[in-house]
Amino acid sequence: MAVPACVPDRSQLRRKLRKQRRKFSGPQRTQAEARVTATLLKHRWLARPRNIGIYLAFDGELDLAALVEVLSRQRKQLFAPQLGHSPRGMCFIHCGRGTMAPNAYGISEPVSGQPVDPRSLDLVLVPLVAFDPAGTRLGMGGGHYDRLFSFLNHRRQWRHPKLLGVGFELQRQRVLPRAPWDVSLDGAVTEQGCYFF
Ligand SMILES: Nc1ncnc2c1ncn2[C@@H]1O[C@H](COP(=O)(O)OP(=O)(O)OP(=O)(O)O)[C@@H](O)[C@H]1O
Ligand SMILES: [Mg+2]
Repeated sequence: MAVPACVPDRSQLRRKLRKQRRKFSGPQRTQAEARVTATLLKHRWLARPRNIGIYLAFDGELDLAALVEVLSRQRKQLFAPQLGHSPRGMCFIHCGRGTMAPNAYGISEPVSGQPVDPRSLDLVLVPLVAFDPAGTRLGMGGGHYDRLFSFLNHRRQWRHPKLLGVGFELQRQRVLPRAPWDVSLDGAVTEQGCYFF
């Protein structure tokens, strides 16, 4: 799909939005995170799923700690991304009682455990740099989510797992440049509420 000439390039957008995301702080951030947590806890996509992919916030990403605590008490099975030092790319590992430690990028992740088949996850909460109303996502630029969930690009209906972007309203863009390998989000949640794509 051709990108309109008025759309800035992805690396420029990433830099700008990562900076804005880091700058969004203080009581405004705390309030927005509390709203997103409350919205997610009521979200119909979180009611039934048993196996949920989460992320550990980095570089100003919306912090899921409060949500994770509630989901753990609800006995949901939670899985966190692991990048480690392997060239195989990202996988999801069960977050049990195992140790968490920073990876090569300084992002906290489970140290041990077996990678789960991404098809066995029911829902994945996906960190965002930006998203748009078509469900196009801009991440940190590693292509990790696109690679791991590339099988979803061959399905239009009954997509499993559902990918739910989580972020702040400032990350919502009118239109994002889209690459052929990008895997779309099925929805997103910000402090303004839920979006379905
Ligand atoms: N399915 C794929 N197979 C092989 N390479 C891929 C695939 N998906 C993405 N990539 C590679 O990953 C690189 C980064 O992708 P992209 O710019 O979309 O990152 P991103 O979606 O923002 O990153 P992330 O998901 O890690 O936050 C691309 O240049 C591309 O070469
Ligand atoms: Mg991408």
